[in-house]
Amino acid sequence: MRAEVSGEVMQIEIPDENFFSKVRSLEEQASDSVRLIKVSQSRLKCLSPKGTKRFICEQNTNPESVLGLHSNSDLMPGIYEGGFKIWECSHDLLQYLDTHVYISDTTSVLEIGCGAGLLGIYSLTKGARSVHFQDFNSDVLKWFTLPNVALNIPAISENMGETINTKCKFFAGDWKLVNDKVVASGMKYDLILTSETIYNAENHSILVELIKNCLSENGVAFVAAKSYYFGVGGGILDFQQFIQSDPRLICEECFASESTIPRIIIKINFKQ
Ligand SMILES: C[S@@+](CC[C@H](N)C(=O)[O-])C[C@H]1O[C@@H](n2cnc3c(N)ncnc32)[C@H](O)[C@@H]1O
Repeated sequence: MRAEVSGEVMQIEIPDENFFSKVRSLEEQASDSVRLIKVSQSRLKCLSPKGTKRFICEQNTNPESVLGLHSNSDLMPGIYEGGFKIWECSHDLLQYLDTHVYISDTTSVLEIGCGAGLLGIYSLTKGARSVHFQDFNSDVLKWFTLPNVALNIPAISENMGETINTKCKFFAGDWKLVNDKVVASGMKYDLILTSETIYNAENHSILVELIKNCLSENGVAFVAAKSYYFGVGGGILDFQQFIQSDPRLICEECFASESTIPRIIIKINFKQ
C-alpha cells in the first residue's frame, strides 16, 4: 500500500538574473564546480557535488535546510530520494536518445523524477519545443535542475530567466499530485523520459497512471532502470508486467546492458 499523499504541486518560480550570473561565475571561478557528461561527440554540463554545495552556500541564506545535500543517505523515503545525484541509467538513456530518438522543434517533453535534469536538458539542446521537469523536491529543482539548464543553453537575450521561461517549467510534488494536476489540465507530452524512478514497487501503479494520462496519443515514453533494486525491492520486470496488464499500453525492451545487474530501457506507447 502506498502512503497517503497530501499537499499540492508547486511550480518553481524562475529566479532573477543574479541567480544565473552566479551559476556562470561559479563555472569560471572553479573548474571543479562543473562536471562534463559525455553524450557521443558532445558534452552536457552539470554542477558537481562540490559546485552544488558552493552554489547553495553562496545563494541560500539557510543552506542547512536543503534536504539531501548534507545527508549520507540517498534515500529518505517520501522526503528526499536521491535527486542531487546523477544515477547510472540516465547515462544509458542519454546515449539511447542520442542514437535512436528524433527530437524537433515540435516535440514537447516531460522528464519525470528529473534530479539533475540531464534528459530534459539534452532534449532542449536538440531544439525541443518545450521541456517540463518534475521532481519530488523543490530544492532539487531550484538548486540543481535549474542551474544545470542555465549551464547548457545559450541565452537568446541578455535575460537567461526569460530564455528558460519560454521553454521550461519546473514542478515539485509527488506523482499522485502531479497526476491529479495533469488530469485536471489535460496536459499532454510527445516524449516522456524517466530514469531510476521505479525502485519502489509501491509507486509503480501511480507512475504508470501518470505516464498514461500525460502521454499524447502518438507519444512515446522511455523508462531507464536497473533490472532489480536490492534492498528496496522494485525492478523493471515487475514494472514491465504492470504495463503489459494495461489493455491500452504496449512496451518493449530497447536496451539491456551486459552488467551483473542489467540496466534496461523500455519504450512505452499506446496501442494504435
Ligand atoms: C534515484 S533519483 C533519479 C534521478 C535522475 N532521474 C537520475 O537518473 O539521475 C529518483 C528521483 O525520482 C523522484 N521521485 C521518486 N519517487 C517520486 C514520487 N513518488 N513522486 C515524485 N518524485 C519522485 C525523486 O525525487 C528523485 O529525484
